[in-house]
Amino acid sequence: MGQRIFFNEVVTRDGFQIEPEFIATDAKVQLVDALSACGYAKIEVTSFTSPKAIPMLRDAEEVMGRIARAPGVEYTVLVPNLRGAERAMEARADELNLVMSTSETHNLANLRMPREQSFAALADVIRLVAGRTPINVSLSTAFGCPMEGDVPQQQVLAWSQRFADLGVRGLTICDTTGMANPAQVARMCEALQQRFAHLQLTLHFHNTRGMGLANVLAAAQGGIVRFDGSLGGLGGCPYAPGASGNISSEDAVHMLEAMGYDTGIEVSRLLQIARALPAIVGHAVPGQVAKAGPSTQLHPVPAAVTELRARLGA
Ligand code: COA
Ligand code: ZN
Repeated sequence: MGQRIFFNEVVTRDGFQIEPEFIATDAKVQLVDALSACGYAKIEVTSFTSPKAIPMLRDAEEVMGRIARAPGVEYTVLVPNLRGAERAMEARADELNLVMSTSETHNLANLRMPREQSFAALADVIRLVAGRTPINVSLSTAFGCPMEGDVPQQQVLAWSQRFADLGVRGLTICDTTGMANPAQVARMCEALQQRFAHLQLTLHFHNTRGMGLANVLAAAQGGIVRFDGSLGGLGGCPYAPGASGNISSEDAVHMLEAMGYDTGIEVSRLLQIARALPAIVGHAVPGQVAKAGPSTQLHPVPAAVTELRARLGA
């Protein structure tokens, strides 16, 4: 068996939050239930944010209440503040995924407060749920901010350290607007593993500039075993200018499985669900393998080639 890789599916959270047309609660529940049967380690179902900030996910309670929870799958939710944490606990989330940005400007745009204030609020959340529910922290714009530009690696490590010191279970290092390149990812992964090998480390990439799968590969070769992906390659932060889709889960799983990694995910089942996604969101989606078919799926030999072969006696 190849190296085990653990996938977290974020399509109904990161994927849907930027969609212009409201997606019905029924469709969200059905999609999560279908994904639950695919072999994911985790599904980020929704977020407990202000319904004014993210109207798409205003039905978070109802979705969490109606999904059928499959054994072995963790159902996590994004939480920006104490109010969100209380709602998430009430909804019996398996994990709280707290979020703040490593760039001050993006934190102000997304969470409407300075980073220090976010940190203080999230530290309160961590104290509130300590020992009851595992905490993951997602650090946004960790490979660059669309407004500020470079975010120094040291800054990302410093925020990571502050959360590690509070006893979180995991950290997700997010390339919110697809600015990371594979060399930068390799350096980041090495530094993260040197300092935080005791934590669950997840990488979260967007394919905004076509570097998404290259970055997954750089991280996997650098020893990272946890990734976020979004079915169909949907996604993006509404408060990050120019944000676009996450890496497509099915394309990433297809690549890693072809290379001999063990994602635990059944590609054919995932592709079936991905092919139903355009009907749910009302437009085409970026994922490529759902359109092309997996590389193992061959096409019939054209009649002209068969005739040519017969003539050549080959
Ligand atoms: N759940 C539900 N409602 C919430 C809430 C939560 N977690 N947090 C705040 N609210 C409500 C307040 O009750 C208040 O409602 P009111 O206007 O009816 O009184 C309103 O939102 C504003 O509250 P306030 O504390 O002033 O927050 P804010 O306006 O500064 O917004 C956030 C801060 C973090 C709540 C908001 O910016 C947010 O939800 N952002 C989400 C960002 C996100 O998910 N981005 C994409 C993922 S990276
Ligand atoms: Zn994202």
